[in-house]
This record gives sequence, structure tokens and C-alpha cells, in this order.
Amino acid sequence: MSASLATVSYLGATILFILCLGGLSDQETARRGNLYGMLGMAIAVVATVFGPNVGTAGLSWIIGAMVVGGAIGLYAARVVQMTQMPELVALMHSLVGLAACLVGYASYIDTSSPLTGAEKAIHEVEIYVGILIGAITFSGSLIAFGKLSGKIGGKPVLMPGRHMINLIGLLIVIYFGREFLHAEMGQGVLPLTVMTIIALAFGVHMVMAIGGADMPVVVSMLNSYSGWAAAATGFMLGNDLLIVTGALVGSSGAILSYIMCNAMNRNFISVIAGGFGSDGAKPAPAAKGSAEPQGEVTAVSAAETAELLREAKNVIIVPGYGMAVAQAQHIVNEITSHLREKGVNVRFGIHPVAGRMPGHMNVLLAEAKVPYDIVFEMDELNEDFPDTDVAMVIGANDIVNPAAQEDPSSPIAGMPVLEVWKAKTSIVMKRSMASGYAGVDNPLFYKENNRMLFGDAKKMLDEVLGALTTGK
Ligand code: TAP
Repeated sequence: MSASLATVSYLGATILFILCLGGLSDQETARRGNLYGMLGMAIAVVATVFGPNVGTAGLSWIIGAMVVGGAIGLYAARVVQMTQMPELVALMHSLVGLAACLVGYASYIDTSSPLTGAEKAIHEVEIYVGILIGAITFSGSLIAFGKLSGKIGGKPVLMPGRHMINLIGLLIVIYFGREFLHAEMGQGVLPLTVMTIIALAFGVHMVMAIGGADMPVVVSMLNSYSGWAAAATGFMLGNDLLIVTGALVGSSGAILSYIMCNAMNRNFISVIAGGFGSDGAKPAPAAKGSAEPQGEVTAVSAAETAELLREAKNVIIVPGYGMAVAQAQHIVNEITSHLREKGVNVRFGIHPVAGRMPGHMNVLLAEAKVPYDIVFEMDELNEDFPDTDVAMVIGANDIVNPAAQEDPSSPIAGMPVLEVWKAKTSIVMKRSMASGYAGVDNPLFYKENNRMLFGDAKKMLDEVLGALTTGK
């Protein structure tokens, strides 16, 4: 492929990536957005592999690597459960970070085209910064993977004087950066290695310090870091498409982090600085499910739930992580259709961090074919709960926890929540009294107008639908 054809292909791929991001901003255009992205990526890969920078000698290596990588990716995509998607994404971010580090070292060690003066300095800055971002992304994403998959506890691990440790680390990185730039050609491996070790340690330290409920911000932040790591790789390799694509991922990840920060009522700057979490609040009681009970709860049966729904005029359904675990979205849709046919006004309230990844609930509801026009964001219907007869919480916990508003010492204090307890009756569907991801007890369960429907969400909803349709 000629250089000019490769450039035109890169331009086409860039436009498709931008259209992809535009499409993903709305549920109705998301499928088309994904198609644009896939097409853009296919063009980018073909233009790179058959482009002017790859000689015929390297082609067999690249195709071999693509077959192995593609097979692993295909296998992972087929076997991974929807609930494991956030972990998979975290793992993939770590690979982007690792790739940036390896490309950085390879470009430094490769002295086949020696550079001098300003060109050398610029290239070395690209390498140093690229490896720095890549190493933080790599180790931070691995820890995020551990936390999301439950292999590492969700409790924040706060080292004494952690801000000071971060500052000292930063000063050492700057000092060795200077050493690296002043080193003779090929002699800078030592400062580069020291910086890499510090960056790896910083990634671990940063994510370990973050408490359960703040993980969404970390996931989107690492998403952004992985984009900047890719952009840095693009600079090192002189690949314009990689720079643009990395910048698109980096900036959209940063915007997502900002949205997540607003949703969690956290300060964006302190997130970027890596020094946030449970400062000023007491830590979560321990791991998930360990909160102490606070009073009496009123349990209901599926038949009683059906009765409450049948008598209601306005119903708001609040889905959470448990709906994803139970794969209850299809039965939720059936119940919704049934109630709507009977003239009940059914709507869905979606919290920005419900589930384990951004848009988790929207994806599940779209898959089950719940109409888009009855799915609302938290802010759009939070004021409507006082006029709601039944608020049905399906496998959600932290996102409906009144402690966020009522208890300033709670680890989730200040986080906006769906105010389901303001409805005439709220029904919480879950298997036990266990706490949610943040590990905090939920006073909602003990409120006078709250009912608990204990059991697996899918099984219980099956029974509710049965009772609704048979009228028993
Ligand atoms: P959670 O607070 O984690 O609560 C989910 C509840 O679902 C659990 O209390 C669990 O109780 C119940 N559950 C689990 N399996 C179930 C099943 N088969 N049937 C019925 N119930 C089941 O979820 P949430 O309310 O959606 O809040 C999300 C939390 O995750 C927030 O703390 C958020 O910060 C965090 N987080 C979010 C993200 C993103 S980006 N969305 C990423 C990382 C972390 P039982 O065990 O008693 O059934």
C-alpha cells in the first residue's frame, strides 16, 4: 500500500472513530456507533499492516501475533459474563499500559536511526512520559481488576503520609527524568528503570487507596489514562492515527471521569491527583456484606408484591447490580409490559453508577427491549418519588441508600441517590440483608414504608409475574 493511500485510510478511520463516539452518546444510535468503530478499526489495522512502514519480513510476525491475540480476544469475548465485563475492561486497559511501556523501551534501545539535538530530546521526552503513563495504567488497572473481581478487598488501604509519599515519588521521577535526558545515547536505561518502578508502585498505591463506592471514578480515570498511554505510543512510533485515537479515548475518558465525579459528588481535581477516597469519613465496616443490622424489616411475598403493583397507578423501577447478576432484565420487561397494558405508568430510574460499569443498566434494559422512552436518568425523576405508589428496587443497594444524605460520617456521604423511600411504598428485592459494593448498611430496609422481597431477583420476579397474570 502506498504512503498516500495509508494516510487517506488513516483519515477515514479517524472520521469513523469520531462518528463512533457521537453514536455511543445515545442509546438509539449506539449500535450504529459501534459499527462505525469496528469499521474504523478494521481500516486502521489493514492500513497499518499493509502500509509503508511494515516490510515483507515483518509481515509474518505481525500476522502470527494477530492470529494469537485475535483468538484470545474472541475466546474472552465469548466466555465472559455480562457481570464480568468491567473486570475484562480493566484487564484490557492494563494491556494498553503494558504495550506503551514495551514500545517505550524498544524505541529507546533501538539505535538504528540515531537522533541528535532537539529531535533526540523530544523523542526521549516522548519515551519517558509514555512509559510513565503506561506503567501507572498497567499496575493501576491490574489492581482495579483485582478489586472489581473481588480478588482484592474493596476496603481502601490508606498508607500513613500517602500524600507525602506521592510527592516524594513525583520529585524522584522528575530528578531521574533530568538524568535520563542528559544521559548518553543508550545509557539512560537505569533512570528509565527507576522511574518505571516508581510509576508501577504509584499505580498500585493510587488504586489501593480507593474505597468501594469510588471505584467507578477510578475505572473511567484508568480508561482515560489508557488513551493517553496509546497517544504517547503514537508519538514514539510517529503514528498519527494512534495519536488521534489515543487522544479521543483519553479525552472522552476524562469527560466520563468528570461525569462520574459529579454523580458521586467528588472533586475532579482531587481525583486526578489520586488523593481521594474516604477522607473525612469513617471507613466502610469491612468487606461486602458485613454491616451490622439496624432494626426490624418487613418482608413480603411475591403475591403481596403483585397486589401492590396491581393497585398502583405510578411505579418506578430502580435496577442495580443484582439485576445483572440474576439476569432478570427480560422478566422485568415482561412485568413492565403487563403493567403498562393494565394502564399503570411504569418508568425506570437509572443511577449513573448503578451496576459495575458506566451504562450497565441501560445496556441490559436495551437488550431486554425495554422502550427507551420510559428509561430516565436519576435527575430526571428523583423529584417524582413522592407522587409514586410503588418504587421497586431490583438488586440495587448503594444507589438507594438514604445514609448518603442522612449520615455525614458514611463512606458514601454526599453521593446523590435515588430517593425511593419517598414513594408511598418501596419494595427492595434482594437475597439477604447483605450490604452492597460500598460495604455500608442501608437504613432504607428498616423504614416503615419499605418492604423486603427476599430471594434471587429472577426467581422472585417470575413468581410476581405469575401472580400478576393469574390474579392470585
Ligand atoms: P450494590 O450496591 O453492589 O448492590 C447490589 C445488591 O444486589 C447487593 O446488595 C446484593 O444483595 C443484590 N444481589 C446480588 N445478586 C442478586 C441476585 N441474584 N438477586 C437479587 N439481588 C441480588 O449495587 P448498586 O446499587 O447497583 O450500586 C453500584 C455500586 O457499585 C456502587 O457502590 C458503585 O459505586 C459501585 N461501582 C460501580 C461501578 C460503575 S461504573 N457502575 C464500577 C465499580 C463499582 P444480596 O447479596 O443480599 O442479594
